[in-house]
Amino acid sequence: MKNIALLASGSGSNIENIVCYFRDDARLHFPFIISNKQDAYVHERAKKLRIPSFLYNKDSFENGEVLAFLLENRIDFIVLAGFLLKVPLNIIQAYPYKIINIHPALLPKFGGKGMYGSRVHEAVVANRETESGITIHYVNENYDEGQVIFQAKCKVFPTDTPEDVAAKVHELEYRYFPEVIADVCLGDSPSKQHFST
Ligand code: GRF
Repeated sequence: MKNIALLASGSGSNIENIVCYFRDDARLHFPFIISNKQDAYVHERAKKLRIPSFLYNKDSFENGEVLAFLLENRIDFIVLAGFLLKVPLNIIQAYPYKIINIHPALLPKFGGKGMYGSRVHEAVVANRETESGITIHYVNENYDEGQVIFQAKCKVFPTDTPEDVAAKVHELEYRYFPEVIADVCLGDSPSKQHFST
């Protein structure tokens, strides 16, 4: 069995989807959710899902407190879904190729500091892109630069609003993120790459 920590800063709809997807799968266990935001809706979802959620601020991440908590709880993998703090080096070094993030665009486009949430979809529309999608990648010390594990694409039409793009991207996230988590956390090849269109 693998123990997986879930981290989110916002709504947490991906977290809820992941937990529900694996509800009857004894191979993956999600003992808690961590957020850096007190008012994040993910705490409400956690209550509904009957999973404890914990609030840790930036300092707790930086000073090793969060790492100690992860290690005490024998966490094997860390999954970020809309988690906006930069993961500090102490955690990255303790979990090489064991931290996975989902980004709501086709990296390396529309990534990096400040590119999150609706800003990504606004930039995609402003740039008149004809496609967008999701990128699931390992986390390293730079925002959105870790090795890509999986990408899936959707079409963007000239008439699409950022909200339209967000809806298509969310659909891809819900469809693929759990499968990729299963593959990474239960598979034996940490650097395996998948591409889907
Ligand atoms: C998702 O689009 C994810 O790709 C991005 O932040 C969003 C989180 O949405 N990193 P939610 O909190 O899971 O609803």
